[in-house]
Amino acid sequence: MFLADIRFCAEEHLSQVLELDQLSPHPWPERVIVSDLCGGRISYLGAFAAEGQLLGYAALGEERGSGLLMNLLVAPERRRLGLGLQLVVAAAEFASDLGFSLLALRVRVANSAAIALYKSLGFKTRAMQERFYSNGDPARYMSVRLPLSLRTLK
Ligand SMILES: CC(C)(COP(=O)(O)OP(=O)(O)OC[C@H]1O[C@@H](n2cnc3c(N)ncnc32)[C@H](O)[C@@H]1OP(=O)(O)O)[C@@H](O)C(=O)NCCC(=O)NCCS
Repeated sequence: MFLADIRFCAEEHLSQVLELDQLSPHPWPERVIVSDLCGGRISYLGAFAAEGQLLGYAALGEERGSGLLMNLLVAPERRRLGLGLQLVVAAAEFASDLGFSLLALRVRVANSAAIALYKSLGFKTRAMQERFYSNGDPARYMSVRLPLSLRTLK
């Protein structure tokens, strides 16, 4: 496992977040990232290399009284090194610090890599949401109780 420096992204990291997001299979509109990151409504946790390069990020918001993991992305050449796992654990810890007792997320039903990661942390599927995404893809709605139990880590 590669231990990254996990810390909050600030406006100075915006260009790195936007650049990384372009490598996502489903990039977000730039204006949404700008307003989320700079507006302070959504917290971006970044996984940084020692020299300051952003290797991945997790975006945490709130929905109906629960923490909501809104986005998660790791640079393609840095996958399977444990970064996604570290980012979700950090997001869960922060959500717990904020007083949330549940962390929820939605993931495309076909995204087996992300689903495996969430399951390994104890997330359970609570509902399927048909045609949730703008292209008609269904979503799997998952959640886990906070704080995360380290016993769920494999
Ligand atoms: C999903 C994603 C964030 C995972 O990041 P990552 O850093 O590669 O994940 P990790 O290395 O922390 O993996 C942790 C565990 O998740 C599971 N996992 C991750 N990628 C997997 C894959 N491609 N296939 C099967 N299991 C996978 C494994 O259980 C893995 O543990 P292991 O490597 O010891 O077997 C990354 O693939 C990504 O950025 N994908 C594109 C964006 C995306 O789909 N985001 C999720 C939106 S809901």
